[in-house]
Amino acid sequence: MLQDKDRIFRNLYGEQDWGLKGARARGLWDNTKDLIALGREKIVEMVKESDLRGRGGAGFPTGLKWSFMPKENDGRPHYLVVNADESEPGSCKDREILRNDPHILLEGCLIAGFAMGANAAYIYVRGEYWQPLERLEAAILEAREAGLLGKNACGSGWDFDVFVTRGAGAYICGEETAMLESLEGKKGQPRLKPPFPAAVGLYGCPTTVNNVETIAVVPTILRRGPAWFAGLGRPKNTGTKIFSLSGHVNTPCNVEEEMGIPLKELIEKHGGGVRGGWDNLLAVVPGGSSVPCLPKAICDDILMDFDSLREAKSGLGTAAVIVMDKSTDIVEAIARFSHFYMHESCGQCTPCREGTGWMFRVMTRMVRGQAELEEIDMLLDVSYQVEGHTICALGDAAAWPIQGLIRHFRPELERRILDYKASKQTAAAAE
Ligand code: NAI
Ligand code: SF4
Repeated sequence: MLQDKDRIFRNLYGEQDWGLKGARARGLWDNTKDLIALGREKIVEMVKESDLRGRGGAGFPTGLKWSFMPKENDGRPHYLVVNADESEPGSCKDREILRNDPHILLEGCLIAGFAMGANAAYIYVRGEYWQPLERLEAAILEAREAGLLGKNACGSGWDFDVFVTRGAGAYICGEETAMLESLEGKKGQPRLKPPFPAAVGLYGCPTTVNNVETIAVVPTILRRGPAWFAGLGRPKNTGTKIFSLSGHVNTPCNVEEEMGIPLKELIEKHGGGVRGGWDNLLAVVPGGSSVPCLPKAICDDILMDFDSLREAKSGLGTAAVIVMDKSTDIVEAIARFSHFYMHESCGQCTPCREGTGWMFRVMTRMVRGQAELEEIDMLLDVSYQVEGHTICALGDAAAWPIQGLIRHFRPELERRILDYKASKQTAAAAE
């Protein structure tokens, strides 16, 4: 369990002042100039040594991503884009950072921006996040007035400013290249990768897109040293992580914990346990709606980190832990996810545009049992036709929950189909 001294987010619950005074009292903006004086290469090196992996869902090594930014000046500006378009069902951690500790993000933006040769950061905030957005904008004004942002930011000799953009309710704009399109004023539709944003990003310029939490932990990593961060969690799955616990737990919450904490411990210590006790657990979606669910038998022992969950054929994703007790209709729950992905598909590529609708329609029949047994394998087959055959990860995200359902709950699907057939036969016999 994470000790208080190792906590990075000291105002996650908004108990203290979220403004500049409070931030300074928590040790933020303290000699930031000295951190910048470490130099670009050293900062990137330290982030690499910490083994920090992206907190937006994919877990890509952050230092490596930063190192893709061109070192030579080819005349194009460099940009940092912060992904605050948190929309993954179950995920609400970035919201708490934005509204309760906006300065931790702003200090991170300055350091990360400097390390990548960027003079500007754009923070793209989910449109529904009104209060977080207002506080973030107020914090930017405070930081500018205090000389922490703007010309010669923090007296470092580096000019750096931060600009905020509001999303307009499209989940797909959280995909990094759709976000770049949206920032450019176009329809938010993902671009084909490669080229990756470091080569061709915002307005065709070198750009790094990072999640809010990823950027926010950087100042503390530099202050306390990469070895401290790497000493938390497990190898290649280091540091602390904010988990969002929701669903059938007694006390839903966001909590910062050590990476690799056992799922059961996380739920029992911070979520107040499963409603009705651990034995009443049916399944958990451990990383937001995009990852496959896991049945109780796996949840008993699983560790909450990227590699452990990948080995279990699921994922850490955004670390949004959705707990479902035995009262849950698991088929209906996954069908609800299918509806979400169908609705949010941007329609650009055929397997996603047609596949998400097709999968949703079959899932709807599966909920009622109005299907043939062979359709379970057909549904699985279609999910494999969608997975990996689309421009962005939304296609995978639509396929994976269904694959998890069939992997772990096939007997439940079969039971519904057989029950429905039996009820029809009984009805026919009665006529
Ligand atoms: P990805 O694996 O394609 O990319 C992750 C990051 O690494 C990107 O920034 C990408 O540019 C970079 N990258 C990957 N390979 C690279 C290479 N060879 N060279 C240079 N850069 C490279 O994953 P993606 O599509 O960015 O994210 C998918 C994840 O996002 C899902 O697993 C899901 O968990 C999460 N997600 C999070 C949401 C949220 O609200 N935070 C919403 C929806 C999905
Ligand atoms: Fe759009 Fe879906 Fe294709 Fe992504 S996978 S680009 S959301 S149609």
